[in-house]
Formats: sequence, C-alpha cells, structure tokens
Amino acid sequence: MSTDDRLSHLSAAEKAALTGGGDFWHTAAVAGVPAITLTDGPHGVRLQRTGDGAGLLDSEPATCFPPAVALGSTWDPELVHRVGAALGEEARAMGVSVLLGPGVNLKRTPLGGRNFEYYAEDPLLTGVLAVEWVRGLQDRGVGASLKHFAVNSQETDRMRVSADVDERTLHEVYLRAFRRVVREARPWTVMCAYNKVNGVHASEHRWLLTEVLRDEWGFDGLVVSDWGAVVDRVAAVRAGLDLTMPGPDTAGDEALVRAVEDGALDPAALDTAAARVLALVDRAVAGADPGATYDVDAHHALAREAASRAVVLLRNEGGLLPLPREGASVAVIGEHARTPRYQGGGSSRVTPTRLDDALAEITALTTAPVAFAAGYALDGDDDGSLAAEAVETARAADVAVVFIGTAEETEGRDRDSLDLPPARVALVERVVAANPRTVVVLSNGAVVRTAPWDRAVPALVEAWLLGQAGGGAVADVLFGVVNPSGRLAETIPLALADHPSHLDFPGEAGHVRYGEGLHIGHRGFDARGQEVAYPFGFGLSYTTFSYGAATASEVDGGVEVRVPVTNDGDRDGREVVQVYGSVPGSAVRRVPRELKGFACVEIPAGRTAEVVVRVPRADLEHWDPRLGRWVVEGGEHVFEVGASSRDLRTAVAVVVEGDDTRVPLTADSTLGEWRADPRGAEVLERAFAESGGGLGVLADSQVSAFLGSLPLSRLGAFPGSPFDAGVVAELVARVES
Ligand code: BGC
Repeated sequence: MSTDDRLSHLSAAEKAALTGGGDFWHTAAVAGVPAITLTDGPHGVRLQRTGDGAGLLDSEPATCFPPAVALGSTWDPELVHRVGAALGEEARAMGVSVLLGPGVNLKRTPLGGRNFEYYAEDPLLTGVLAVEWVRGLQDRGVGASLKHFAVNSQETDRMRVSADVDERTLHEVYLRAFRRVVREARPWTVMCAYNKVNGVHASEHRWLLTEVLRDEWGFDGLVVSDWGAVVDRVAAVRAGLDLTMPGPDTAGDEALVRAVEDGALDPAALDTAAARVLALVDRAVAGADPGATYDVDAHHALAREAASRAVVLLRNEGGLLPLPREGASVAVIGEHARTPRYQGGGSSRVTPTRLDDALAEITALTTAPVAFAAGYALDGDDDGSLAAEAVETARAADVAVVFIGTAEETEGRDRDSLDLPPARVALVERVVAANPRTVVVLSNGAVVRTAPWDRAVPALVEAWLLGQAGGGAVADVLFGVVNPSGRLAETIPLALADHPSHLDFPGEAGHVRYGEGLHIGHRGFDARGQEVAYPFGFGLSYTTFSYGAATASEVDGGVEVRVPVTNDGDRDGREVVQVYGSVPGSAVRRVPRELKGFACVEIPAGRTAEVVVRVPRADLEHWDPRLGRWVVEGGEHVFEVGASSRDLRTAVAVVVEGDDTRVPLTADSTLGEWRADPRGAEVLERAFAESGGGLGVLADSQVSAFLGSLPLSRLGAFPGSPFDAGVVAELVARVES
C-alpha cells in the first residue's frame, strides 16, 4: 500500500499519536504500525531494559567505543567508518533501529560540558568524520540521528538559551557539518536541539527545519526532537518537526487534532509528519535482522585500535617515549591508571562489555618491574600520604608515568575552569622533581590548561576519554606498539581568557551572543596572532615527516592538492597531512586560514607517499548574506600544507573560477557601490550628465569618500537635487534590466 493509502486509513488522532512517540525509547504502535526503538548513542548502544528511561545509569552491556572527542583526534575517516559500522552491528543485534548520533555541534568553548561528545572546533573535520560514521552505521541497516540541530554548543541554560549568531557564521560554521552529512551520507533522521536559534526554539524553527534542511539541502528523512525539546507540538509540526520524543504525549496529540479541526494547522502538515514516521518505520523494518549478532572481542579490539589512534603526543623531550619493553622499571602513579576515566556523563553513558585499565595493560607489556601508587583519591580525600607515597615510588623507578585528569565532565553542565584539580598538578611537580624521567598522561573530555606546568614535564600524552579499551591503547602508545598519530581537533590555549569565545560565554538573560563570529577556535587565535600552548592540528610522532613542494590543479570546479611526504625516521608512522586555505585580497572578511582538507596516511620508514587531498568546490564556498546564497570567490586561492595549523611547510596557489557574485543595485545601494559596479557607474554617469552636472565632483577623493557611503535614495534629500524617488527608481530599473 502506498503511504497515501495508508494515511487515508488513519484518523487524525492516530496520525497525531504516530508523531508523538510511544514511550521513552520507542515510537508509538498505532493501527498496526509497529513501534521501533531509538536509543543513544553515539559511542555505544545504551539500550535500557526498562522502556521508561528512568534508570539513566542502567543499560545493557555494549562496546564503549572512544567518544567523539577521541574519534575527532584520529583525523581518520576510514577508522571512524569502521567504528560506525561496528556500532551498527551492535545496534542491529540489540534490535535498535536508530542510534542517536553523531553529535556534530562544534566545540565553541573549551568549557562546553558536552565537548567530549563532539568531534572538533572545526566544521570541516567534524563533517568529514561524521559522514563516515553515518555511512558505516547505516550500511548495517541502522539509522543515524544527526544532532543537535543546531548551534547547541553549551549546556548552560541549554533548554532555553538563544544562540544568537549572524547569518554568515551560522551557515559557514555552525550549519556546515550538518549540511555535509545530510548531503553526503543521507542520515535517516536529524535531531533538533534544545536551545533557541536567534530567538526561536530549534524545535519550532521553520527556517531551520524546513527551508534550510529540506529545501536547501534536500533532506528526505525524519526530524525527531531532542528528548523533551518540544514546547508546543502544533508549532513544532508546523515548522517541520515530525516526531516528538519521548512519548506518549496525549495532551500534545489532542492539541494537534484540535488544531487540525479548527483550522489552526494545515492537515497536510500533520499528514507529512505522520508519513515520515511511517517511512522511518519502513526503513527500520527493512533493516532489522532478528538473528543478528556481533563479535564482542573483535569490537573490543577495534575500540583499542581507535583509542590508540586518538592519543595525541604533546611533548617528548629527549625522546623519552616510547619506553623500552624491558630493562626499565616503571612507577605507575595515579588512581586513573587503575580506575580509568573513559567516557563522560549523561545520555551517552554506556555500560561497557569490559574495561581495560592502563595499570594492568602496562604490566602486561613490559617485562620490567611495575610499581603502583594511587597518588590521590578520586574524591580528593588525601591527607598527603597518598601523594608522598607516590613521590617515593616514582623516585625508586627508572621511569614514572603519572595519570591525571579532570574530575568529571557531563551533559547538562559546562565546566567552570580549564584547570586540572590543583592537587593533581602539584603531584606532577613533585614527581618530576623526584624523577626527571616522568611521563604525564591526561584523561579529559575537553582541553585543559597545560601551561605552565607542562614545561617541566619531558613527555606529555593527551589521552582524552578513550572508551573501554583506552587502558590498552595508552599502553600501546607508551611502549611504541603504536606510533602515535592523533592530532588536536581543538586548540589548547595558554589561558582561558585568550579564547575567542571567552567574552561571550555563556551569555546571560537567555541569550548567548556568538560574538567571535567566524573566528571560532584556531581561526580566532590565528587572526589575533596569539600564542597558544598547542595549536589545532598538532601532534607528535615517534618518527618525523618532511614535506616536498605542494602542487595543485583545478578539478571539477574544486581543487586537488598534491604533496610528497617522506617518513624520515626508522619507524613506520601515520601522518595527518593538513591543507589550509586562504584567499589573499578577498572581497569579503576572511579568517587567516581555514582547514580545507586532510589525509591520514600510513608511511613506512624511509618511504615517500604522494599524498592527494581533494577540496571539493563546496568547500571553497562562503555564504554571501547580501545574495542569500553560497558563492565561490573567483581568483587566487592559496593552499598551505603542513602538519598543524601552525606548522605549514609548503604552499601553492590556484586560480579558481568564481561564481557570479554581483550584488544587484538598489535605491539603498550607496554611491560608492554604484560607482564600483561597471554597469552602475555607467548609468550614474549618464544620469549626472543628463541632470546637467557631471560626476566630476566625485573625482575629488575627499568628496568621494564623504559621499561614497550615501545611499542613492538619499540624494533626493538635498535641496535642488534632481534625484527624487521616481528618478532613482528609473535608474534602478535601468541598471538591473
Ligand atoms: C540529549 C540527546 C540524547 C537524548 C536521549 C538528550 O538529553 O541531549 O543527545 O540523544 O537525550 O537520551
């Protein structure tokens, strides 16, 4: 039966019920339409035994893969694809039809409470990785839910706050990853955010949910609300929201039926929402496989591989790392080595199938003696004896490895500081004093301040929250089983106050102004030429890479950049080759450099790889608010290629054919704008001549500057001016005909 036929058999009440959810994790079973399961996501399947969602901490065991903070640091789309596919297998085996992820909001501020659930401060890196996550997942017959649409970059007042963002920034920064994923991976669903965007609830935002998402990007799936995001069901359906979760919401269902009956809601809007629920259920039924299983061990191994690729080596003075696997005794310091921090709190929290800790994994990898000292208590309760014992343990060993991290990160609350607990930093300082061969391993869901204490530490390993196999992954990196290749997906500032978002976070009185505009993350640091602790894109390896000269050519309207990269060391390794673009002399405001593409390549020791990075035309576009559309600016585009945003080794320029960016002239266009436009200048010249005067007076540079900003329509305000409204209208008609 066609969807129309099926709809025609449903009453308005049944249609409303379909769009309302059945319980916490299921759609409603209505008139023979089966219920399907949606659940979190994103880094593991959080399937709750009870359907009421009451036990937030209680869910079936599932592989806890590295959260997005870690996947983002891999810069490896192929790996992220495999993680997405594994998640799809687990979801399918557990009867889950839609896994609620990926989260593609940007890390606007390092204090963002859910930064651990998001990939990067950069929209391109975020989008490219999320595309592969969605493809991997959906290839297994399980739908994704691209979230949180949109501009959900803080937890403070998250259900009410209005993210106030200018149009260009909205398109180019905060919507860009969503656009990429919608177009390239066609997610089954998109989840609207809790917050407001420029004053309107995302759940009721017609421009966002319909004009941009569907009309502009061609989204053909279902829009689901974030859990509890809907304030007014009727307004939400009118705006283009299809499924309100959780359910049931009898009052909302009734409101919808009433609104249809009394004409407040077009019945077609309810039909459309119900039809999209039917289509989602069809997809889910087609994708389901009651006999599906998954390989728990293989997924644990994948979680370890992914985690090891996410580790970012920040410092390695004197080549302290990798540690030898024999002959050097190791003091493992820090409760986190035994009790790992491996995921954040809130709706993404998964019950792992097993949990590796670094202490056991280090002990398994070395034949030398390993001693352990907790160094601190997780609840901070230490009279000094734990720290003192740790210092002595470190002193007695050949090498000390200290595990410290943030106390907690969770959905629902932003952090209030970039600093690690002071007692942990003090412990590091004492351990380094006792044993100069000290490695520090960080566990945190978003960047922490490393200055100035890191200067005294020879080796610093950023190990994020790495999921259930993180302990083994860290051990692999420490002992060189894995050569680190993780790169920072977010800048580590020297101080919080340096951050571009700092003065406009978290806002007040229900509004947060995204005042830094396009200058999110490294773009803001670069624009102000500010020093940072570790730049975006940075990460060390146990080998070194050198770059030859980049070349580039135009391909399909986009650009292809090629660069030979040589592994100069004696160890195989992976390099993340990064391409940053800029447009010298651009007619519009630009950030100094934007990530335009990257490649994560394995290069054997002593070999050279010919690395190719494609920059599709869509990634050359900027949003022009005057034209209300995307455009490519013609002329020379420069591509700098290197190992981080601040380690650019070679550059190449390409002339790109631009789009038509001519802005139509109006009565409100200034004299300067008319004169800068060849057709406008001609029409104006003629008009001035016909009126008896020439444009001669404007030849004087002071007069030209003085009058240049005068809109044409205002000329009529001056005594004796022949340019009344009628004449101006005629000029506009002439120039735009
Ligand atoms: C979160 C979503 C999540 C949903 C369901 C909300 O609190 O914002 O990311 O998918 O709950 O648990």
